[in-house]
Amino acid sequence: MIKKIESLEDYKDQYQKSVESPEQFWSEIANTFSWRKTWDRVVDWDFKDLDVKWFSGARLNITENCLDRHLDTNGDKIAIIWEPNDPKESTIKYSYEELHQEVCRFANVLRKNGAKKGDTICLYMPMVPELAIAVLACARIGAIHSVVFAGFSAKALSDRINDAKCSLLVTADGSFRGAKTIGLKEIADDALESCPSIHSTIVYQRTGQPINMRSGRDLWWHEEMEKVGENCDAEIMDSEDPLFILYTSGSTGKPKGVVHTTAGYMTYAEYSFKNVFQYEDGDVYWCTADIGWITGHSYIVYGPLLAGATTLMFEGVPTWPDAGRFWEICAKHSVNVFYTAPTAIRALQAFDDSFVLGHDLSALKVLGTVGEPINEEAWQWYHELVGKENCPIVDTWWQTETGGIMISPLAGITPLKPSYATLPLPGIQPCLMDADGNEIEGNDVQGNLCIKYPWPSMIRTTWGDHERCKNVYFSNYEGYYFTGDGCRRDADGMYRITGRVDDVINVSGHRIGTAEVEDALDEHSNVVEAAVVGYPHDIKGQGIYAYIICSPEPEDVDAFRKELLEVIVEQIGPIAKPDKIQVVSGLPKTRSGKIMRRILRKIAEGATDQLGDTSTLLDPTVVEEIKSGAL
Ligand code: WT7
Repeated sequence: MIKKIESLEDYKDQYQKSVESPEQFWSEIANTFSWRKTWDRVVDWDFKDLDVKWFSGARLNITENCLDRHLDTNGDKIAIIWEPNDPKESTIKYSYEELHQEVCRFANVLRKNGAKKGDTICLYMPMVPELAIAVLACARIGAIHSVVFAGFSAKALSDRINDAKCSLLVTADGSFRGAKTIGLKEIADDALESCPSIHSTIVYQRTGQPINMRSGRDLWWHEEMEKVGENCDAEIMDSEDPLFILYTSGSTGKPKGVVHTTAGYMTYAEYSFKNVFQYEDGDVYWCTADIGWITGHSYIVYGPLLAGATTLMFEGVPTWPDAGRFWEICAKHSVNVFYTAPTAIRALQAFDDSFVLGHDLSALKVLGTVGEPINEEAWQWYHELVGKENCPIVDTWWQTETGGIMISPLAGITPLKPSYATLPLPGIQPCLMDADGNEIEGNDVQGNLCIKYPWPSMIRTTWGDHERCKNVYFSNYEGYYFTGDGCRRDADGMYRITGRVDDVINVSGHRIGTAEVEDALDEHSNVVEAAVVGYPHDIKGQGIYAYIICSPEPEDVDAFRKELLEVIVEQIGPIAKPDKIQVVSGLPKTRSGKIMRRILRKIAEGATDQLGDTSTLLDPTVVEEIKSGAL
């Protein structure tokens, strides 16, 4: 088992060692896992051609590390506590032994239906234990999982299935989200109209709503599980075999499939989980994310299970049946470590304090946040009301591409500073770059955040398009991974993430590309051109502001807005709905035809007196019109 960092001094020593002798540092950590064959080399890397290999020559199966290796000593320990959407429904718990059995059975179901090593399998599921089981079952047989968040539309789902050429889809009849029921199978059916690679669909019954089962394609999860045994040999994988694909948005084009591989991801997932949260044996740990995002992959499923922890999975939403739901669950299961998003904190902060105070939160030891910068008021509320000033808050900065937490306090070890992610984990070498591409040395400085040495869980490629991966992440600053974030390093060397410096917006912790929303809006037949920017939003962090040129001019602007929202829900999903839509007659463009988003951003945030130089615009008068109609 990985040994935890114990003090600030220990952290400093470990950090230094990780920079001076990274190979020795990581091999000592990797040695704690169960390998079928150990590695020949710790790391080989070339950022120019983007060729990174960790632990090459090693052979393993990650599920033997998540499950089998715990069975002898901890088989009865609870691996997953599942809390349903409706508090009137019962909690379900799986011990490591039971989870192992379920994973093996479902892995056999996948094999029986033709899945094999290297195949890609799409999972489009609600937050039920079967999603975690399906993830692990894929890994068990060496199939590459591609989890698609169940809030995405049929179009978004089919795009992702087709990009990865998935052969199987695992879904559910429907999902419960607060008072709503969502017909997942119906959406999946729609998607599958244009997914020739899918030969079978396995459907987990969650809501019991009526659905169509297409014969020859659709199979019930529970029926298939009865046809197989519970022994399933793990497929033995190479260290660099892909483990999963996870789609994420960038500043241009369609979402890209970030590829993570096996041994390095595993090593970093457990290492970061244990150290950041200072997880202690017996603790109940709860991350409120959805497994459809990287947070759920690394810190609901893989990290905690690798560490032999008890991980809580919640199906519902924070405000249903009331705004005390999170705290009720914390009290019910004596949650010790609680990890959520700033947007959820801000949303709950808006309700009466009694929703928090009515529940016994005395088991809480550590609080965490992820996904976006946390503002100071939300940090204080979380610290005082939820943590009773007794729980360190770990503000964890990382990305889908980094696979694991990169910059964060280690709970109870690193000094805290509200709104700062503080210090890098051992093995992580952040640096700030200036506009000329040079590293900015020293403290009390600001720049673009890059990482300068490989780490085990870093992105290896983007599925089907290695060049794109090189261009997006490794070409802006030669020899560095570029994060897309701006960052300041204060006088004490602490890091504060200031937000994206590219055309990516962060809405309630969800990453959305402005180009993606613009392309979706263009699908409306009356839209001539759309420009989308982010603007500060009290709860969501950023809201989406869309400027639309429309022809013919809409007679009823509100009705037109509604139509546009429907188009977005159809093309992407409800998370990408613009908060504000302004119909304009023109957009501020340079003479070469480029939209000057800087101006649109300023107008969206109400800073119309800071537009800067507009004289280079093709038609400066358009700015006046947009300003006067701003929402
Ligand atoms: C982007 C990555 C990594 C899990 C969830 C989001 C922003 C993430 C923080 C933080 C400030 C943060 C960054 C980053 N972000 N964590 N603690 N403080 N910003 O993953 O969808 O890949 O988004 O989220 O802008 O680049 P993601």
